Amino acid sequence: MKPRRAAILREMGLSPLWRLRAAEAEAEAAAAAEPASPPAPPAGENAREAAAREQTTQRAIPARPIAAPEPAPMAVSAGHIATLDWPALEETIRACRACALCKQREQAVPGVGDRGARWMFVGEGPGAEEDRRGEPFVGQAGKLLDNMLAAIGLERGKDVYIANAVKCRPPYNRTPEAAEIAACLPFLDRQIALIQPRLLIALGRPAAQALIGREISIAGARGKRFERGGIPVLVTYHPAYLLRNPLDKSKAWEDLCFARAFMEKEAH
Ligand code: URA
Repeated sequence: MKPRRAAILREMGLSPLWRLRAAEAEAEAAAAAEPASPPAPPAGENAREAAAREQTTQRAIPARPIAAPEPAPMAVSAGHIATLDWPALEETIRACRACALCKQREQAVPGVGDRGARWMFVGEGPGAEEDRRGEPFVGQAGKLLDNMLAAIGLERGKDVYIANAVKCRPPYNRTPEAAEIAACLPFLDRQIALIQPRLLIALGRPAAQALIGREISIAGARGKRFERGGIPVLVTYHPAYLLRNPLDKSKAWEDLCFARAFMEKEAH
């Protein structure tokens, strides 16, 4: 066995080198100042008096920080999203305010990779590093994902596209809620429709539930074939879970071998 391959397989489970990532919880500021509302005009005031009062009022009110406006609901329907090309899709994702996740994001993270890929991997949602850099799986979990790809001869960006079930970072890296996944699903579906991958691989339970459309457990769904829009879906453990549970890396390795065999047999 080549030393590089041996090293990858070692990373995948034989002698786990990965350590638990320190919790990434961040203190997030919550204070928001109430906007000042103008006093009601006195009854019977004429236009000149009103203008004079306005000037006085402007001088009298000290400058206060203006609270960020509440996000407006997204005016873009799923039907419209289903018509977008890549630039419009990414722009719409970046401007999206369909759910509360937009409030604390630094930026939305649409996805990365080969838009003609046969393999599409779907994670849960961006973490802190992804939120900063605008690219999925660039933190510790991303390093393991890159090793998982390499273990079956794949490379990020080459015949591989990587996206997430939700495009904005859930605060404190919590699991995205069902409503947040549902709000983001038209974006994932449009990415899938544009890419037309031969195989979708769900990384972890939230991604699997987004793609399969119902509650599942990874342990129960591994090794089974599901579908989304006619495209086969396989599931495996999320790399962040594998960092916390390195003994399950060998199961993820089995899942990747299953996926590779599936592609060789059924989806050229
Ligand atoms: N975990 C995910 O599910 N997605 C990312 O992009 C990073 C970590």
